[in-house]
Formats: sequence, C-alpha cells, structure tokens
Amino acid sequence: MNSTVNPASTHSYGGTTAARKGVQAVDEALAAHFQRFAADLQPATLHKTFDDQGAFLYLEDFLPSAFTEKLVEAVRAVTPSINRNYIPGHKAGGSVSRHTIDELAPFIADLYRSPALIKWLEKISGDTLQESPADDPHAYALYFYTKAGDHIGWHYDTSYYEGRRYTLLLGVMDDSSCRLDYELHTRTPEIPDQPGSVQIPPGGLVFFDGDKLRHRITPARANEFRVSLTFEYVTNPNMRPWQRFISNMKDSIAYFGFGQVFRRKGGRNGAA
Ligand SMILES: [Fe+2]
Repeated sequence: MNSTVNPASTHSYGGTTAARKGVQAVDEALAAHFQRFAADLQPATLHKTFDDQGAFLYLEDFLPSAFTEKLVEAVRAVTPSINRNYIPGHKAGGSVSRHTIDELAPFIADLYRSPALIKWLEKISGDTLQESPADDPHAYALYFYTKAGDHIGWHYDTSYYEGRRYTLLLGVMDDSSCRLDYELHTRTPEIPDQPGSVQIPPGGLVFFDGDKLRHRITPARANEFRVSLTFEYVTNPNMRPWQRFISNMKDSIAYFGFGQVFRRKGGRNGAA
C-alpha cells in the first residue's frame, strides 16, 4: 500500500531505550497508515469477513511500501543465518527465528510489538491478543523458499498454548509460483469445507486462527525465490511442560535447529 511513512531506523535490539523508540516510531507510522487507509482497513468490515471465512482474512495490499522495503533490507541482513530443513513428505525450506531477527533485523521485532498493529488485529479477531513468550522462536520468523521443491505440506498452526494462537503472514519477496492453498471451515461440521488459494504479493497479508485453517505452501520451482514473514500472537501464553517439550522438538527438527530452540539454558524450556 503506498503511503509516505518514516519507519524506525536501524538500531541494536534488546529491551533498550533504542528498542522502545524503534517500536514507537513504527507504531506512529502504522497508526498514520491505518488512518490514511481507514476505508480499506476498516476493522469492523474486516472482522465480519474474518468471521464469515471461519477465522481467515486475506488482504492483497496491506503494508506501507516503506515497511516492505525495510523488510527486504531485513531479509538481506539475516540471509547468512538461514537454517535449512528437510522433512521428507512434509516440508523443505529455510527459516530464521526471532532470536536471530532480534540480533540482525530489529525492525521486524519493532513491527511485531506495534500497539497499533496489535489493536487492529484484536478488532479483526475479536480476541485480546498477547505477544508470544520470549522463548518462542515462532513469535516472529522469516521463511525462505529458495530451492526447487521448497514447500510445506498441509497442516494447521496448532496451538500448544492454553489459549488460541493466531498467525499473521506478511508477503516480503516473491519471484515464485508458490501459493498458499487453504481450506476454510474444516473444523465446523455444519459448514462445507471451502478451498481457496492465494499468491501473497510483497506487502500482502493473511491472518488466521492457527487451529482453524488447514493450509500449505505449494513447492517452489527451480530458480524461484520467495520470503514470507510470520507473526504469532496468543490469547494465553501459558504452556504446560509436556506441550512445551513437544513444541520445542518440533521446532528444532522442522524449523530452526536445536541451537536456536534450546538456546536458553535453565530458561522456561527447561530442556537445555
Ligand atoms: Fe502454517
């Protein structure tokens, strides 16, 4: 979405004054963006669409173009740190976890925490949303589809938390044939399943309840390149220890590697 904004400049992250200023700068720019495009981004209308589609919303044009440009810069900054995974029959691709993003691409962390963004998502979902806990590598993460066959098979973004888990997907770069295929209403027996498919352009948005949307990303072909950004918000950040263990093992094997997932010795993971 075209608009004149002034997103936060680069700074080192870590709960510092600079980080707070970063969130504030992003937040002010985003709040102005919501104001400028109030007619298109009207939360009441979008909430109805979200509800009618079984907790799913797609907007082809969402992010201010200056934000998308900052995300492309972020992709360049984290590229040396991509962790590639391959699970036969399920997924192949690269990921960069929130821990690496905090160090190398703090603009993403600032965007994730923007109160204007979170309030807008709350109005669309009808839920009170919280950030994912500090040790959840999915809180914000970049996903790379850069080799022939990179994909992720049909799945739900299952919540291992005691509450609901919402996924916000933002298109960052796309020179690929990859599509987000999805099926609406699969958890609602009285409503027929409704298949759909979108190709999310840079700046596009998808928002859904992870336990309700069955979805996949179709395989990349040779010489294609796609990067998407995922934010995860929860309604209750508590997680029972066994659920935490299962979640960590899944993240280590399927996404970020053991080093990233179990990096906090003696932390809430309790598994390092
Ligand atoms: Fe997913």
